[in-house]
Amino acid sequence: MADEPLVLGIETSCDETGVGIVRGTTLLADAVASSVDEHARFGGVVPEVASRAHLEAMVPTIERALKDAGITARDLDGIAVTAGPGLAGALLVGVTAAKAYAYALGKPLYGVNHLASHICVDQLEHGALPEPTMALLVSGGHSSLLLSTDITSDVRPLGATIDDAAGEAFDKIARVLNLGFPGGPVIDRYAREGDPAAIAFPRGLTGPRDAPYDFSFSGLKTSVARWIEAKRAAGEDVPVRDVSASFQEAVVDVLTRKAVRACKDEGVDHLMIGGGVAANSRLRALAQERCEAAGIRLRVPRPKLCTDNGAMVAALGAEMVARDRPASAWDLSADSSLPVTEPHVPGHHHHDHVHEVSKENLYS
Ligand code: KG4
Ligand code: ZN
Repeated sequence: MADEPLVLGIETSCDETGVGIVRGTTLLADAVASSVDEHARFGGVVPEVASRAHLEAMVPTIERALKDAGITARDLDGIAVTAGPGLAGALLVGVTAAKAYAYALGKPLYGVNHLASHICVDQLEHGALPEPTMALLVSGGHSSLLLSTDITSDVRPLGATIDDAAGEAFDKIARVLNLGFPGGPVIDRYAREGDPAAIAFPRGLTGPRDAPYDFSFSGLKTSVARWIEAKRAAGEDVPVRDVSASFQEAVVDVLTRKAVRACKDEGVDHLMIGGGVAANSRLRALAQERCEAAGIRLRVPRPKLCTDNGAMVAALGAEMVARDRPASAWDLSADSSLPVTEPHVPGHHHHDHVHEVSKENLYS
């Protein structure tokens, strides 16, 4: 449909400068510049390095996305940007760029939530999200079960990790195994050649008295690290493939078990899995198996759309336009700890708050 909103989305919450362009639920461009190699030697993302890299990549990545989509910026119906959560300095680069482009072009600006974007991106792969949708969101910074009846306005957390995020656990175990950063993709690869039942690692928070939808990966992480240390102390080789497979199995077993249970308890027949860890091949396979057995339809975007990208931001922005959500005010600010319950970030609209707002902007 030609009248579907044409939206450009900017994502800079972590180490990927993502610029995506969508028309409604159709993906037109997905340009990503990553600074991951610059962080690799530090074993994790360095915020100042990420901010500087966003600044350098921003304009070229926007231009590449426009070229890939075969449009000019003037054709756009709106510009969406991740307003949080994420690294404050990194977010600020994206928010500032989005404001500058939107203001100069006279287009509406939409500040959106990174986590809701990870869910909404599946519209580009599988069409409109069913309502309600159960979402298992698993990334480097988050692991939660979310129930949404409208991705632009209603996202309800059922449970979340009480310590490490799932992706963080992958990254930390990869570091212990000296496999580099980020850890998820490389553990995924080694695990394919290993035995997932070789070592019985603990499944956190799965006892009868434990919170049914919360996660904990810190005990698992410690247990895996101790197991590896014991092998090394005994002068034995560490079986990297079996450790990877057994660790990975412990993570995805808990994730899928709890997600399926949440769907059953809430009477929801669709499960969406999003975030970087949703790129994991074993998570995708086990989720498919368990959803099928429970009569739940599974939706997982292709791996490239699971990790951070601009298309997901554009997808949520287009949904904001389609649902007539108000544009964000020009004083929209980045919020590094934006709650998952706020998919849309309006900024401050009221003129009687103007003094308060300008003071806040001065210091934030
Ligand atoms: O969503 P994302 O790109 O960034 C955040 O918002 O955090 O997720 C990055 C996380 C990293 O921890 C990375 O190790 C993990 O996703 N990841 C994976 C895989 N690909 C990326 N974890 C497990 N298996 C994978 N194939
Ligand atoms: Zn993410």
